[in-house]
Parts: sequence; structure tokens; C-alpha cells
Amino acid sequence: MCGIIGVTGASEPLAVLLDALALLEYRGYDSAGVVLVDDGALWRKRDAVRGHSLDTLRAAAAEAPATATAGIGHTRWATHGAAVEHNAHPHFDCTGTVAIAHNGIIENYQELWDKLQAEGHTRSSETDSEVVAHMLERELATGAGLAESLRRCVGELRGDFALAAVCTSEPDVIAAARRTSPLILGRVDGIGLVASDIAALLGTTRTLFQLADDEIAEVRPGSISVVGLDGLARELEPLEVGWDIVAARRDGYDDFMSKEIHEQPRALRDTLMGRIHADGTTELEELSFSAADLEEIDRVVLVGCGSAYYACLSGRIALEHWAKMPAEVEIASEFRYRDAVLGEHTLVVAVSQSGETVDTFHALREARRRGARTLALTNVVDSLLAREADGVLYTRAGPEIGVASTKSHATQIAMLQLFALHLATKRGTLKGEESREISTGLLSLGGLVAGVIGQLDRYLAVARRLADVQDVYFLGRSVGYGVALEGALKLKELAYVRAEAYPAGELKHGPIALIDERAVVVAIANRGHLWEKVMANIAEVKARGATVVALCTEGDEATAAVADHLLEIPVVAELLSPAVAIVPLQALAYGVARERGNDVDRPRNLAKVVTVE
Ligand code: F6R
Repeated sequence: MCGIIGVTGASEPLAVLLDALALLEYRGYDSAGVVLVDDGALWRKRDAVRGHSLDTLRAAAAEAPATATAGIGHTRWATHGAAVEHNAHPHFDCTGTVAIAHNGIIENYQELWDKLQAEGHTRSSETDSEVVAHMLERELATGAGLAESLRRCVGELRGDFALAAVCTSEPDVIAAARRTSPLILGRVDGIGLVASDIAALLGTTRTLFQLADDEIAEVRPGSISVVGLDGLARELEPLEVGWDIVAARRDGYDDFMSKEIHEQPRALRDTLMGRIHADGTTELEELSFSAADLEEIDRVVLVGCGSAYYACLSGRIALEHWAKMPAEVEIASEFRYRDAVLGEHTLVVAVSQSGETVDTFHALREARRRGARTLALTNVVDSLLAREADGVLYTRAGPEIGVASTKSHATQIAMLQLFALHLATKRGTLKGEESREISTGLLSLGGLVAGVIGQLDRYLAVARRLADVQDVYFLGRSVGYGVALEGALKLKELAYVRAEAYPAGELKHGPIALIDERAVVVAIANRGHLWEKVMANIAEVKARGATVVALCTEGDEATAAVADHLLEIPVVAELLSPAVAIVPLQALAYGVARERGNDVDRPRNLAKVVTVE
């Protein structure tokens, strides 16, 4: 979703802004803009051609002032106001001497705007964000500096936001502030930087600092100072980073999605590395819960959005089956507004690749408020979620740039299963032999997925034959239901095909009315204890003329005999199968999307990081 970058003290600030915006592109955007402070004036360029706005900004670089001292840039994902140029950031005040870039939502913008309008301000966009530029104009007029003006404004704002501002009266200052939405600060060789995402700064500096909620930073070429809402100075808090920018490049693949599908064996191995041993023992030291803490937990609630939520479905089954732990799963955006009954013995696990998804973050915060213990399971070190939770478990998938979750989903599943095994061993609910078997199974996931990836061409061949599909129904049971949901989501978001997933047992309770000879049914039919039941469901849809794609175990002749297309996977223990079974469905969606000429890395209307509700 939206991205912010700011730079001061660089000899070519525009180049720094454009390079950083390119690194933020993966978050998704529908318009972009930059502003430079130069000799008492602001130079601004904005564009709203989805996916190409950065090209427009680059093309305009020749017109940009060569002597600019500072600048800010932004990629926008429209919420308030359409994706048109006048709504793109940075936004100006009435005088055109103050510019702001904003991520998040200013909830009370209308109320603030009504006041500003009464004072004579006029707006030039439909955004909630612009209000901050006019508030700064009002404060600067009192003689306050930019950072102090921003501090005063932040006190009046409601909502989640990250803000960066520049003005002509302090040409080498960037003022920045945040609440919930992330914003980090950077410094290198007399250059000061501000960004909403670590990825934007990794190419420039590794000297990074966090900004906490309701802190305001004044970033100058040679110094960064931070104050709280109370105006008192705060210490700069260093930020630890683990990713390498090289890992975020395409490495010769056609697109990031393909690269990330291929990276799954490595991502799974890295995620489990050092945390599990073939003898069934587990080490989750970073969890920061003592054995006694874990013993006290009597219920686990897993929350997440989209693919992360589907990973939780597999996690729940493992928690119940191995650890005999009562477990529930809930969509974070529902959970946060529910009157959830939680106690000190409830553990709420919030699962999020980015660690920034606003609903998941607030679900976790709400859980804390209600007295539950909290655990973040995320891919991003020091992310908002990681900092908010009592404990944290990191997946080690590496940067995921393609908007559709692939390796992060697979590693979330494996990490949740490892956590379930960890709890089971601590609670003594598994026999030694059983836990050894599970740990060996988990450790073999990387190899199994590598084998599946070796068959991508076969899955892509099925995708080619289904390139014109219109309605696809995914059916699965038990862990296969989570796989079905994730497979359907991949097809929807990448290929823009209507795809619905049902627990196969629900078929007769309604969905079967939709099945006729135009329907394509993808059945998750790899061997497991409910395989025969899935076969019965396949028979039901075949009898109504549907085309059946069976995701099945290699060499399973019984399934092959009834299916029109096969997506075969190797033999894998049933509970561990989701991280393997999802790969052919990723390939199916990828293949259909490519056949249709869709952009698989940046599907329409979607953002990688969903920082607004
Ligand atoms: C789908 C997808 C999304 C995310 C969801 C949560 O392919 O990527 O459904 O899984 O937006 O994102 P995170 O995990 O960052 O909280």
C-alpha cells in the first residue's frame, strides 16, 4: 500500500527519491508523486497512471531543479478520493510552500477540514491527507518551526498515520511523525532519510532508527532529533535489519512470483533451521515465553487476514491434534471488533507476513487490552506486530515482493506447525516416536516442495488448458479445506477468475446447485483419512457434468481414473501436506493469469501491504 520516502542533504535528492519509490513499488500503488524544496519554492510532479507513474516521474527529472536541498516522495493506493493526479501526494497547503506525504487514514479529517475551511483554507483534493498540509500552514504562521508545527498537528489527529513534511522556510528539514503506520529514519554521510518501509532504504543505508507512536522527528542532513507529543526529547532507537537488497531482485526469473514460488524449499528450510531436530526436540528461544508460561496457556486463538488466515486453519488442526490445545481461528478484521472473551491463559497468535496489516495489528492490540497473551508470527523483523506482541516467531521467507503470498504462506504454515509441535512436546501430548516422526516430516518439507517445483511444467500445462475458465469451485476437507481456500484466493487475485472454496462436506448443503457442465471443480484429493469422502464429492460433481481437476497423490490410480486433469504431489503426511499441496495451486493460478496476460506481480486493485482497514 502507500509508501513514503524523504531525503535531505543528498546531492541528487530526486534520484534518491525515485530509486526508493521503485523499491516501494511492490507494496502496490495507483499514483505517485515527488516534491523538491529549492530556493524558496517547491517543485512537484505527480502522476496517476497505475503501474507507470514512476516512469512519468523519471521522465520529468530533466525539468527538476538541480539545486534542490530536500524532497519527499509517495506512492498512493487510493482510499479517500479516486486515483487521479490531484489526489496524489505530496499535497500542498494554500500557499504552495508546505508539502506533506501521508500513509494511513486521518479519521477526523472532515471535522478538521470544517475548521480550516472556516478559517479560509481551500482544498485541492478529495483526500483525508491534505488537511495536514493546511494545519501545518496554520502552525507555521505562528512562527513555529516545521517539526514543532507537526507536533502540534499530530495532537489533533485521530487515526493511523505516517507523515513526512517539507516547507520552503526550512529548506533542509524533513519533519516526520507516525501513529501505528510504520515510519523509519536513516542517516548516512550527511544525508538524512525517512521511509515507510525498510526496503526503500536498504540500498542507501543500514544506519536506521525507529520512530515510536506519537513521536515527531526533525531530520536534517547531519542530525536527527526526536520529541514526543509532550515536546520532550526522546532517544533515537536503532533498528535491526536482516534482509539483503540483492535478495529482493528478480534473479533472472520472469517475475517475482515465479522467483518466490521457486524459493519455497529454501524458505521452508530456513524457517525450520535450528528450531527443530530429527529427534523430535524443538527450540524456540526467541519465543520469550517460559515453559511455565506455555503450561498456563489453555486456549489459542489464531488471527490473520487472507492467506495468513488460511495458514492459521492448518495451524489450528495441528494445535488440536498434536498439542491437544483448544484452538480457534478468526479473521483479524472480525476479531478486532468482536466482544471476544479472552483471559490471561488465552494466547492470541497474530499471523502476518508484513507485520503491518492494520487489522491484524489491531486484533493483537485488542487481545492485549483484553488481557490475553500475544504472539506475533511474522516475516519482518521489528515490524509493528513484532514490537506490539509479548512474543514473536519469525518466518524466514526473505522479502516477498510479488503481491500474492506464496513463500510467506508456506512458511507461515510450517511455523505454526512447528509451534504446535513445540507446545505438544512441552505439554507431553505426543509420544517420543510421534514427535520424531512429525519433526522428520517437517524437516523433509523443503525437499518435498523442491520435488513439486520440479513438476511445475506439468501444472502449467493444466493451467494452459484451463486458461478460459469462468467459474471454479475448490473443494477440500480438514487440512485440504485451507488449501482449497488458498488455491481459490490465488486464482481470484491473479487470474481474476470467480473461484470459491467450500468444505467438501458442505457441497450438498447448497453449493451443488451451482454445478453443471460449465463448472470446473478443483478437488483436494491427496491421500488422507478423508480421501474416500472427497472421492464421493468428486463423483457428485462429475455426475452433474463438471470438469474435475484433482490434486492427488502421485500414482493414485483411483483418483486419476475419475479426474479430467491431475495435479500430482508426492506422498506426504496428511497434516503436513498443506505446504506441499499449495504449490500446484499457486502454479495453476500463475499459469492461468499469465495465459490471460495479467501482471502476476501486481494484480489489479491489490496492495502487498494493507495498512488501512
Ligand atoms: C494473498 C495475500 C493476502 C495477504 C493478506 C495478509 O495472496 O497475500 O491475502 O495474505 O493481505 O497480509 P499479511 O500476511 O502481510 O498480514
